[in-house]
Amino acid sequence: SQAEKGGYDHFMIKEIFEQPKALRDTISPRITKDGSIKLDNINITKEYIKNINKIYIVACGTAYHAGIVGKSLIEKYAKIPVLTDVASEFRYNNPFIDEKTLMIVVSQSGETADTLAALRLAKEKGARTLALCNVVGSSIAREADDVFYTWAGPEIAVASTKAYTTQVAAFIIIALYLGKLNENISDSEYNTILKEVIKLPEKVDYILNDIFKVKDIASNMMNQDDIFFIGRGIDYNVAMEGSLKLKEVSYIHSEAMAAGELKHGTLALIEEGTPVIALATQDNLYDKMISNIREVKARGGYIIAVSKEGNTSIEKSADKVIYIPDTMDDIIGILSIIPLQLISYYVALGKNCDVDKPRNLAKSVTVE
Ligand code: G6P
Repeated sequence: SQAEKGGYDHFMIKEIFEQPKALRDTISPRITKDGSIKLDNINITKEYIKNINKIYIVACGTAYHAGIVGKSLIEKYAKIPVLTDVASEFRYNNPFIDEKTLMIVVSQSGETADTLAALRLAKEKGARTLALCNVVGSSIAREADDVFYTWAGPEIAVASTKAYTTQVAAFIIIALYLGKLNENISDSEYNTILKEVIKLPEKVDYILNDIFKVKDIASNMMNQDDIFFIGRGIDYNVAMEGSLKLKEVSYIHSEAMAAGELKHGTLALIEEGTPVIALATQDNLYDKMISNIREVKARGGYIIAVSKEGNTSIEKSADKVIYIPDTMDDIIGILSIIPLQLISYYVALGKNCDVDKPRNLAKSVTVE
C-alpha cells in the first residue's frame, strides 16, 4: 500500500532513499568511541587469522557483487588471498576448502538455496563460516558459525539497493578489522579510512538531494536497446552491479565490461549513439580510464561518466558527467552506485515497467 511505501511511489525508490540511514545503522554500532572496530561478538583472533590460508566469498546476484568488492578490500588491507564464486557454480568447481579456509557467504534474505548449499558444503569440509545477512534469524544466519548483520531493514523491492550498499559497508569494516589483526595496515591508515567510512551516509544523502541530472540522463535512455557499463578496479565491480540493476528493472540489455578488456571483443558492438556509462573514480586508474573512454568515443559511443567532484578534465572526453563527492577510492563504490540505482529506477519508470516486481524474477530464490 501507499502507506507502507512511506509516500514514495515504489519500494525501490523508498529503499534507495533509505540508504543513508541503513548505512548509519550498519556502520555506527561497529565503531567504538575510541575509534576501533568491534565485530559484534564474532571472535576472530590474531592467532586464527595468521593461520588461515585463504578466504572464500560466495553469494548470488547483487550479494555476489558486494562480495567481489569485499575481495579487493580484504586482499588489500589484510593480505589474505580471497577466492570468489557465484553460489550456483561454487559446489561444482571442486572448491579448495579446508579447515584453514574462512568461508564468507553473503545473502540479503538468508534463504537463497544455492548460497545455503554452498555454506553447508564448506562446513562439511571443515571451514569456519561467516554469514553477511540482512534478515535476522534466516536459515543462512542460523547455520553459519558467525553472523554479521547488515542493518538495512526490510528490503521489499526485488532489485536490491540498500542491501548492496550495506553489504559493501560490512566488507569495508571486516577488511579493516582483519587488516589490523594481521598487522598489515598501519594505525594511521586505519584511522583515516574509518573517518571516511563514518562520513559515507551523509555523502549518500548529498547525492540523493540533487537527482535532477540523473533523471534527465535517464529520460534519454528509455528507447535504447543496449547499454554498456565500463570501469576498472572497484569501478568495474560497481559497473557490474549497475548493469544488473538496469537490466532487472528496465529490461534493457546491458553489459558491464572491464574497460581495458573492451577492445578484445565488445568494442565491436559500439555504434553511433550507443550509451556507455563509464565509471572513473579511481585516481590510480584515471588516465587509463580516460583513454578507454576515448576509444569508445572514437567509435561513436555516447559517454555518461561518473567521477569525483573536481575531476572536471573528464568533460573533455565525456558527453555527460555525473559528479559524486570525493572520498577514498577503496570505499567510493558506496557512492558511485547511487546514481546508477537512480538511473535504473527512472528508466524503468519511464518505460512503465513493474519496478518493484520485475517479470520472471523473485526476491528470494529458494530453488537451486
Ligand atoms: C535474487 C534477487 C536478487 C538477489 C539474489 C541473491 O535473484 O532478485 O536481488 O541479489 O537473489 O539474494 P540474497 O537474498 O541471497 O542476497
